[in-house]
Amino acid sequence: MMNRRNFLHASIAFAGSMLVNQLYAESHVKPLSKAIPGSGELLPAIGMGSFVNFNVGNDLEILRQRTELLKHFFQLGGGLIDSSPMYGSSEKNLGYCIEQIKPVNNLFSATKVWTTSVADGPMEIEASRQLWKVNQFDLLQVHNLLSWQGHLETLFEMKQQGKLRYVGITTSHGRRHRELEKIMQSHPIDFVQATYNILDRDVEQRILPIAKEKGIAFIANRPFQRGDLIDWVKQYPLPEFAKELDCDSWAALLLKFIVSHPAVTCAIPATSRIDHLYENMSAMQGVVPDQKMRDKLIRYVTTL
Ligand SMILES: NC(=O)c1ccc[n+]([C@@H]2O[C@H](COP(=O)([O-])OP(=O)(O)OC[C@H]3O[C@@H](n4cnc5c(N)ncnc54)[C@H](OP(=O)(O)O)[C@@H]3O)[C@@H](O)[C@H]2O)c1
Repeated sequence: MMNRRNFLHASIAFAGSMLVNQLYAESHVKPLSKAIPGSGELLPAIGMGSFVNFNVGNDLEILRQRTELLKHFFQLGGGLIDSSPMYGSSEKNLGYCIEQIKPVNNLFSATKVWTTSVADGPMEIEASRQLWKVNQFDLLQVHNLLSWQGHLETLFEMKQQGKLRYVGITTSHGRRHRELEKIMQSHPIDFVQATYNILDRDVEQRILPIAKEKGIAFIANRPFQRGDLIDWVKQYPLPEFAKELDCDSWAALLLKFIVSHPAVTCAIPATSRIDHLYENMSAMQGVVPDQKMRDKLIRYVTTL
């Protein structure tokens, strides 16, 4: 028997898939993608985080919903999914859901190495690979700069042996930016991941310019400040100029702000809801704000 909540989810999913099919059939709209500087490979500008939304244990009904969510994510042109061994059952659940919808052509698998012991790194990476059920990862990142010297050596070695495509490093909440800058200046990393959103713009000062100069791709984490930012702005009306940017939700506006920075490659909002996913993925459609519009948006949000 389908309860009210499941019925609602199923209806949204159905309406959503009709909309996607229509959008693609009628207008051939190509979602915004950005080039990975090191290779030129195009990456869809909106990805998916997995910190809380996939750390859901073994509940089969929730896993069915997450599988549906990912199905829509890929249909809408999504690619990069970000995880970590730090995120409880997330890697296992991502592996389960992705397996349900195979073949998936555009998955860009990104996880992290997160252990103080450099010697344990390869074992942890192999365990992650088995959980994700992928042949190899597209991107492995040193999580929160933990034991970064040793782990980077492991990752560069894997890349050289053809067992990994890209090497990266992450931080968040503005932590250890000075150290991160030094790593970006001195090591041939492909990706850096840090927090960037309209209220937390510290990376604009030095990290993003270094990324641009050194040809390092940038992934923006915590685009909604784990939900606090989007919950807060949603109390206020959308600015009139949102229409000029083809945005009909706060989520799309906030994400367009992030991915319109020339040095940003991808933003990774995490969601558990299909209606939210549609808002987030719509940031890859239509006008991309120029610097004047970005400034206007900052002024609007900071005076709310
Ligand atoms: N050091 C690191 O490497 C590091 C640190 C932090 C984060 N990360 C990565 O970055 C990802 C994103 O960060 P995050 O998970 O902290 O938070 P986030 O993406 O900033 O925010 C997630 C929250 O926003 C809500 N949300 C998503 N779309 C929405 C929409 N359209 N409307 C309203 N609410 C919406 C979600 O709730 P619903 O489920 O209800 O949509 C969830 O509560 C993580 O999952 C992780 O993969 C990495």
